[in-house]
Amino acid sequence: SSTPPSTNTTIIDIHTHTYPPSYIDLLASRTTVPYIHRPSDGSDPRLIILSSDDDPSKPLHQRGRPIDKSYSSWAEKLSFMKTHSVSISVVSLANPWLDILPPTTALTTAQHINNDLNASCATQNAKNDPSARLYAFASLPLSATPDEIVSEIHRLPSLPNIKGIILGTTGLGAGLDDPNMDPLWAALESNSTMIFLHPHYGLPESAFGGAETIARSGHVLPLALGFPLETTIAVTRMYLSGVFDRFPRLRMLLAHSGGTLPFLAGRIQSCVEHERDFTSNGGHKQGPRREIWDVLRTNIWLDAVIYSKAGLKSAIEAAGPEGAGRLMFGTDHPFFPRVDGKEKDGEEDGGKWPSVTSNLEAIGGVGVGEEEVRGIFGGNAARVLGIEI
Ligand code: URA
Ligand code: ZN
Repeated sequence: SSTPPSTNTTIIDIHTHTYPPSYIDLLASRTTVPYIHRPSDGSDPRLIILSSDDDPSKPLHQRGRPIDKSYSSWAEKLSFMKTHSVSISVVSLANPWLDILPPTTALTTAQHINNDLNASCATQNAKNDPSARLYAFASLPLSATPDEIVSEIHRLPSLPNIKGIILGTTGLGAGLDDPNMDPLWAALESNSTMIFLHPHYGLPESAFGGAETIARSGHVLPLALGFPLETTIAVTRMYLSGVFDRFPRLRMLLAHSGGTLPFLAGRIQSCVEHERDFTSNGGHKQGPRREIWDVLRTNIWLDAVIYSKAGLKSAIEAAGPEGAGRLMFGTDHPFFPRVDGKEKDGEEDGGKWPSVTSNLEAIGGVGVGEEEVRGIFGGNAARVLGIEI
């Protein structure tokens, strides 16, 4: 049975995606990953965004996943929110964001899409019942010049419905530990911008035994393991390269409860302490100066999109003294829809998505106090992102 939060709990969904129509058109104009294939027989277009989606043994109309209007329609987003009693959504562009833009048009496209998201939130908020509100995370034009990217970071505070940015793991192309990222970190830190770190690229296919092995279980290996490990590796590389030493006030919200970071933090810390290259006797490299635990309790927040009490407990424990106070509810809509197609009211379960109810149940049963549960559902996001409830 599902455990809906009590009726006086405000639910804020900080992990929920959209592809604006202009972005869908961009994907449909491409023929290499990421792209959208529109079958000539009029059936639902196919979203082929992960490299493992582009399985050459399948015809185009069977690759990837069907993409319906839930990927770009505000009405669908609001209807999903209503079904699951979500009052406020902070929407973000879905992967791979603006990573694929040609450098010359990247800045203007980013400005256009971020303005569009900000304005769409305003329009929807003005016309809908005030019990449903929308905000957004912006995207950065990562293929533009560092100066241009920094200019967009500094412009975002002028957009009132933008509550931070969503960022992938590749940075300027060489990862988030690239020293050339420093001007971006400096700008993000000076604006106290929340950085929602989200995976897209996964692990190399060889990590899973190659494309054929992956294809046997579809999206399971890339999404269940590739995504969380990608996030874990990206943030650990940032940590090891001293990003959190140089920018001690960075604010990062990690997707999928930090990937596996909460579970592995002890091992990361121990390996750092045992690394001879970092120690004074013979050591010649600068290791991170702060403990990973300190970073977890000051720079990092975690979403609660992990679908089990075991994962949530690890996240709460790793978050330090604030514990559950650093977790925030999310749904990952429109990914992980019902597979039985029953989304209409009148179904026994009200058309709810098991991907959402499993997270609601895990949070409700995780064993923290009622106030803390309410914090995870919405209070923490309101406080940390500056959203009035
Ligand atoms: N699959 C994706 O490609 N992105 C998500 O955010 C979730 C599932
Ligand atoms: Zn997501």
